[in-house]
Amino acid sequence: MLSRRNPQLNSHGELIHLLSTEGLPRAVLTQILDTASTFLAVGEREIKKVPLLRGKSVFNLFFENSTRTRTTFEIAAKRLSADVINLDIARSSTAKGESLLDTIANLSAMQADMFVVRHSESGAPYLIAQHCAPHVHVVNAGDGRHAHPTQGLLDMYTIRHFKKDFTNLTVAIVGDIVHSRVARSDIHALTTLGVPEIRAVGPTTLVPDNLREMGVRVCRDMAEGIRDADVIIMLRLQNERMGSALLPSAGEFFKHYGLTPEKLALAKPDAIVMHPGPINRGVEIDSAVADGRHSVILPQVTFGIAVRMAVMSIIAGNDA
Ligand code: CP
Repeated sequence: MLSRRNPQLNSHGELIHLLSTEGLPRAVLTQILDTASTFLAVGEREIKKVPLLRGKSVFNLFFENSTRTRTTFEIAAKRLSADVINLDIARSSTAKGESLLDTIANLSAMQADMFVVRHSESGAPYLIAQHCAPHVHVVNAGDGRHAHPTQGLLDMYTIRHFKKDFTNLTVAIVGDIVHSRVARSDIHALTTLGVPEIRAVGPTTLVPDNLREMGVRVCRDMAEGIRDADVIIMLRLQNERMGSALLPSAGEFFKHYGLTPEKLALAKPDAIVMHPGPINRGVEIDSAVADGRHSVILPQVTFGIAVRMAVMSIIAGNDA
């Protein structure tokens, strides 16, 4: 039975779907990060497989484009020994007008055990979780502007890996926060894990004042935003979600908010630079920073496999 308080937890407070980092207790976040630590070593082995999802069918349903999330979910499921089905949405009967729930009903009739869903509509994974059978698990791989919980979790894994302790950190999130499901998932997780200072940095068109209600310090000035930061999370401009031009130009944005070596020098000397990808070089980040010694952008991708293995194995082990 779905919990009334949080639809991703069962009545024992265990994770049965992963829909958002919002409302996830610290113990659940820590369980995922600790489990991911144990899976990181699997990727170093000659035979990169464990049998935890053997006999289970995982359906990847990506209604929006993806490179990192889709591929790392597929790798993660295969490393857990699941059978993985990647539905080619463009060639599926969605193109003939079949509804999302009819698609899910038909895939469920094929005895699906887990759906990994990316969708442009916020709430689509919640809808699926409400309508699928109790033994079927749903993982949100990014829904509209709302949430990208596994990106949020792999970001937390990366921060913990390099910085050890969340409770003495200053984390700056820079750029297009208004359209960013990653920023929202990061802010919820950082808050729950006890980060004392979270800054949102950018112009008013991209960084809404109401973020202050989430306990976030809003900075319009880049220098103020990244000064003495331990962690800088850069975000790309999500032009595909902008109804109208919110900036004079990409060049103007780079001048004020693009992360260059000169601006990075304002952060702590051992600051790490993160980015969920895809990066747009010369728009939000200079190549010298993206490829430089502070960058942990590619380790984030590697950690994403272990974190997704952790999420899938934990939810598959819990009954509704
Ligand atoms: N970080 C992320 O979601 O990247 P993709 O869109 O390539 O999956």
